[in-house]
Amino acid sequence: MNAVSITTGFDVAAVRRDFPILAQNINGKPLVYLDSAASSQRPRQVIDAIARYYERDHANVHRGVHTLSQRATDAFEGARDTVRRFINARSTKEIVFTRGTTEAINLVANSFARPVLESGDEILISGLEHHANIVPWQMVCEQTGAALRPIPITQRGEVDFAAFERLIGPRTRLLALAHVSNALGTVVPVERFIAVAKRHGVPVLLDGAQAVPHANVDVQTLDCDFYCFSGHKMCGPTGIGVLYGREALLKSMPPWQGGGDMILTVSFAQSTYNELPWKFEAGTPHIAGAVGLAAAIDYLTSIGMERIAAYERQLLTYATEQLSAIDGVRIIGTAEHKAAVASFELKGVHPHDIGTILDVEGVAIRTGHHCAMPVMEFYDIPATARASFAFYNTHDEIDRLIAAVKKAKSMFS
Ligand SMILES: Cc1ncc(COP(=O)(O)O)c(C=O)c1O
Repeated sequence: MNAVSITTGFDVAAVRRDFPILAQNINGKPLVYLDSAASSQRPRQVIDAIARYYERDHANVHRGVHTLSQRATDAFEGARDTVRRFINARSTKEIVFTRGTTEAINLVANSFARPVLESGDEILISGLEHHANIVPWQMVCEQTGAALRPIPITQRGEVDFAAFERLIGPRTRLLALAHVSNALGTVVPVERFIAVAKRHGVPVLLDGAQAVPHANVDVQTLDCDFYCFSGHKMCGPTGIGVLYGREALLKSMPPWQGGGDMILTVSFAQSTYNELPWKFEAGTPHIAGAVGLAAAIDYLTSIGMERIAAYERQLLTYATEQLSAIDGVRIIGTAEHKAAVASFELKGVHPHDIGTILDVEGVAIRTGHHCAMPVMEFYDIPATARASFAFYNTHDEIDRLIAAVKKAKSMFS
């Protein structure tokens, strides 16, 4: 059933040749990788860029006059500019490299929120959030006496906008929202939320971990204050991610971690801090990670985020139709706008059993709470089975998923 890729002009076979890991058997069956929301795979172009960096250019950045150090610095800072262009930030001063989305959110929690929060202040999040966009706020709330207020979600898995309008108020100090939910795939219409937050003078952080791999993100059009994402979910390396922050805000924030690179001068009496963005990058950074992330961005851009989004929409529609047609399957999360995620349960079969049976068939999905336990609590379920898609997946692979789910069903009936 690969004809669709022909009708859209999306050459998925050519794309797949770029991903060496996909061409293998698991348990004697061709691998069907449907776990890209947890971590995507990497194309040869990214693997090669990292290998080339280590083979030819590696040294520590910023501190050396020798040629290799300059090459490494150019590669690292060049990667920062690639990220800036990708999300249309105004300046590389607004691009801070982190270990990932989690560290980016923790940075904002500790450096932006903690110093200003007072008892009675409030931070708004939604009921859809990944633990990375819950726990850091809980921690600063504990430290400051502020309160964390979750905006409820609806049965379809959408953030309740009317409830949000009721919750935001004079004590709200920050709105921290997922752009796309990892557990359900809901695309949150963040523009509407940002517009209201702006009217209240409330800064907005977006957790873009699941959005950046699937759509064009323009931080200036969004008009958000912070935007966080991870390299490994967008064909880049693990251990590298990005915090975008509006320059004026980043400037006003104290550094979070101290050490080398984030200082201008150090004496025992006092230290002075480096310019943006290095003020927030203490210690030797993940240079190869940044190089790999830039290669991933170049790769995604060469295909085109709009084409990726259009193709993935077809995959999701097809998977949703096929899964829904199986008696006993319930799709969890039926928002009007969704991206790349089909979470489901199968009556009478625990999600972990589905995952295990699918693995025997060579089909890799994720089962569990997906680091979004409040979402599971909302639906009163312990876990879901989650198939998540990327542009390197095919309609044939979805057929394999469906056949494997039917097999799981027959084994338990
Ligand atoms: C929506 C969302 N936010 C945050 C994270 C955390 O990302 P990382 O583990 O790369 O820091 C994830 C990872 O699954 C996610 O899906």
